[in-house]
Amino acid sequence: MQISVHNIEFSYNGAPVLKDIKCTIGRGEFIAVVGPNGSGKSTLIKCMNGILRPHKGAVMISGKNIKQHHLRDLAKTMAYVPQNKYGRTPATVFDTVLLGRKPYISWKPSGSDMQIASEIISRLNLEDIAMKDINNLSGGQQQTVYIARALAQQPQILLLDEPTANLDLKHTIEIMDILKNLCNKGLTVVIALHDINLAIRYASGIMMLKEGEIFAHGGKEIVNEENLEKLYDIKVQIVENHGIRHVIPAGQFEEADVVKKTYT
Ligand SMILES: Nc1ncnc2c1ncn2[C@@H]1O[C@H](COP(=O)(O)OP(=O)(O)OP(=O)(O)O)[C@@H](O)[C@H]1O
Ligand SMILES: [Mg+2]
Repeated sequence: MQISVHNIEFSYNGAPVLKDIKCTIGRGEFIAVVGPNGSGKSTLIKCMNGILRPHKGAVMISGKNIKQHHLRDLAKTMAYVPQNKYGRTPATVFDTVLLGRKPYISWKPSGSDMQIASEIISRLNLEDIAMKDINNLSGGQQQTVYIARALAQQPQILLLDEPTANLDLKHTIEIMDILKNLCNKGLTVVIALHDINLAIRYASGIMMLKEGEIFAHGGKEIVNEENLEKLYDIKVQIVENHGIRHVIPAGQFEEADVVKKTYT
């Protein structure tokens, strides 16, 4: 399903954060939103799913303004994995994942809802902790549970805000592979990422945000030294290995040397 953002503007208490953002993300695309801290990635994702209402412009899903969708229908269409989780209510992993079925449940979960929740728990290797309270899990385990809850919604558009920030290398690759596979079946993914190399490896398109504006939006070719240096204000080097490009902050070794000389 397609999501399009039409010239949105958003401010917190009068301070502009998003300025005239426009983009269209088609069915099956995997778009990585990258940019410095505070550039507006989380705010853009929250505007896309209706948590925040832009002061100007509109977000449309398949040509219809999200304001006109019933919440239950919107929750069947679009799921969201937030960057910060503040949940303190005791709940098991299973119940949390089952919550993803809420838009489909009238008063009690059906056998199929339970089945979908169990399958996702198995797929994300959460079986051993399925009956644990989410508040007693590690940061990475909690993050995986929230991804599982979003997948249980069986959305057509999935918005994820730094979903791999607390995950180790193995779990990061597992989650990204699952997302990529779902994309190949038509899921539209918008994912805020700090790891530019992960973005190059998985995304079909990259959106660079700087100070609330789209600095560049396109294919992987926009991840070049010139754009990255302007975006992050540091020197970088791009090296190619087996046809895959990797971004390395330039001069990191000299920097380390300076620190060693200063502190030893
Ligand atoms: N609830 C809020 N109230 C006021 N200002 C906010 C609020 N949330 C974010 N901001 C401000 O809006 C700007 C954009 O924040 P946002 O969280 O969208 O950035 P981000 O690109 O997601 O950053 P990060 O990479 O650190 O997650 C920042 O200057 C931030 O301080
Ligand atoms: Mg953020």
